[in-house]
Amino acid sequence: MRIDILTLFPEIFSDPLQASLLGKAIEEGRMTVALTDPRDFAQDRHRRVDDAPYGGGAGMVMQCGPLVAAVESLRTKNSLRRVILMTPRGRRLDQALAKELAAEEDLVLVCGRYEGIDERVVNALGAEEISIGDYVLSGGELPALVLVETLSRMLPGVVGDWESVETDSFYDGLLGPPQYTRPPEFQGVPVPEVLLSGNHAAIRRWRRKEALRATRARRPDLLVGLNDEDKKLLAELENEAAGDKEIAP
Ligand code: ADE
Repeated sequence: MRIDILTLFPEIFSDPLQASLLGKAIEEGRMTVALTDPRDFAQDRHRRVDDAPYGGGAGMVMQCGPLVAAVESLRTKNSLRRVILMTPRGRRLDQALAKELAAEEDLVLVCGRYEGIDERVVNALGAEEISIGDYVLSGGELPALVLVETLSRMLPGVVGDWESVETDSFYDGLLGPPQYTRPPEFQGVPVPEVLLSGNHAAIRRWRRKEALRATRARRPDLLVGLNDEDKKLLAELENEAAGDKEIAP
């Protein structure tokens, strides 16, 4: 997969693109990430890429010209590349959208800065807008890194043990189950016995039930499209919760 990132601050990317699993994915050529600075496409000698907003107001707005020229320079003749603008006004990124994007061969990510980007850029580029959540950052660079890292985890061979991607929170729409490692007891709290049992079927069932328990408690909105086994486990959880209420004074 190839990802081109348009940014006025390429230095933000240098360390994150080299570290850990993402760094390894890039080093092994499973993912290529290239940075382009729109200033290189500015039309004046001051390399200007922003201007004051029409209608007044604080801050500066990124101009159409340099951004559109930069993206056009990346479009190869035969492939219409999917262009994504990182902005808090966009569609909220979730695991389903990430899965869809991970199937693309190439993507262009445009990082906004300042107070925003001239609205005409969206149409000119046929761009989609994506947000990483309902909060405002100073620019699209960190959101672009969030997207790149989550996409990298879905590429074959990046996460050595595919099972660990499958047990990621959200991979199949639920929050993940709790995890434990040595020691078997910490501050008097033991590891759940089933995890030490070596009974893989029982462990799988326990993990699924705990994933449902966490999702039910924290994100009940995610409990949709459950299969029969999930429904049965959920019914067990409901019964346990009803039993707890009876016992409580
Ligand atoms: N740029 C600034 N804030 C953002 C957000 N929440 N998501 C995507 N891009 C952004």
